[in-house]
Order: sequence, then structure tokens, then C-alpha cells
Amino acid sequence: FNSRLLDRVQLTITAGPTREAIDPVRYISNHSSGKMGYALASAAADAGAQVTLISGPTNLPCPDRVKRIDVISAADMHGAAMAMMGECQIFIACAAVADYRPNNCADQKIKKDNDSMRIDLVRNPDIVSAVASHSLRPFTIGFAAETQDLLRYARGKLERKKLDMIVANDVANTSIGFNANDNAVTVLTANGEQNIAQMGKNQLAAQLIQLIAQQFLNVQS
Ligand code: C5P
Repeated sequence: FNSRLLDRVQLTITAGPTREAIDPVRYISNHSSGKMGYALASAAADAGAQVTLISGPTNLPCPDRVKRIDVISAADMHGAAMAMMGECQIFIACAAVADYRPNNCADQKIKKDNDSMRIDLVRNPDIVSAVASHSLRPFTIGFAAETQDLLRYARGKLERKKLDMIVANDVANTSIGFNANDNAVTVLTANGEQNIAQMGKNQLAAQLIQLIAQQFLNVQS
């Protein structure tokens, strides 16, 4: 294994959750820890890549030799990702982007004046789809976290989002996936499928980066 497989390749990773503001003190978010994305950033830097990590709010330190762009909302993450187009050869979408955001963020803290309340939500942009449809399209990898019908949904996303590769993750199994230290995945491409057995996220990240590098270099040549 050539440890400098991605020497000087420009690689962008999105990681962590996004936060969608309801008012100045409240937001909608999810349980993503960012661990998998940060592990990938670190493994890609080890492989020689120039890594930009677009990160939602996490408690993780920025890995060595990685440039981090901090974002809060899906809209911010989308903007930061689009700004990387043209200087990005590989894009890995590992973030757990909120699918919806409140239609309006209230200017002031909302008071509990009523017995019930409604929050009107609107769809967020699909960042990885926007990247894969861009005229300066990088080699694009997505993740599919599912609780059922994992491979069928993952292949559907690979096709619908026009990805080069998708990493399928069974989040019904609590020993892997969200917040866990271990992960086990199946990697799907248009014409292949490969399992990576359960192991620590850092070790898995190294294997994933190796697979991504091989596919990327195949497409290049
Ligand atoms: O459709 P779903 O959210 O399951 O797709 C997951 C993949 O799409 C992940 O790679 C995730 O980072 C990416 N995604 C995105 N922008 C969104 C929603 C998902 O980039 N708004």
C-alpha cells in the first residue's frame, strides 16, 4: 500500500451535524458526532492529500495538516462546498445535513404563550447532489445511513445523486454508526460492491481512503 497515494490531491470532506436556527437560542439538529468525517480527513492527509474539512459543530479537534472551515447551518455548508468547486478533485460528503430548516428564524426568543406551536420547515439544499451536478464536478463520494433495506436505498442514492461511490452504513446496529467508535460499511460503485467488516473508525477511514484513492486514480487514467 502506497501511503502517499493521494499526494497533492485536493480533497474536501463535509462532516458533523448542521444546526438549523429556530430563534436566537434554539435549533434543530441531530446526533452526528463528526467522528467518521474527521477520521477520513486525518487518513486522507496521511495519504498526502491537501484536505479541507467543512465541519458543522462538533467537539473534535481539527486533525493535523487539515484546513478546517467551520459552519453552522446546511445553507452555510452548501456555500462553503460550492466555494471549493474548481479547487477540489475529490469530495466526500460525510456530514449529517439536516433535511429541513425552519422557514423563518424568529428575531427574538419565542415565548411559551400557547399550549402548542408549529414550526414551518422548508427543504435544505442537497449539498452532495449539487457538487455531483456541478460543471467542475470532483470525484464524489456520499454516505447512506439507513435502518432498513440498506443496500437498496444506498444504490438508489448512488444513482439519484449521481455519485461515483457510496458508503452504506447500517445505523439500526448501535455498535456502529452515529456516535459509536466502530463502524462497518459496504462500499458501492456503479458496478461493484465491497464489504468492510466492523473495526475502529480510524482504521476503517484508512481503508476507505485507500479504496477511494484507487477508484479516483482509475478514473483519472
Ligand atoms: O439522502 P440522504 O441524506 O440519506 O443522503 C446522505 C448523503 O447525502 C450523505 O453523503 C450526506 O452527506 C449527503 N447530503 C448532503 N446534503 C443534504 C443531505 C444529504 O450533502 N442536504
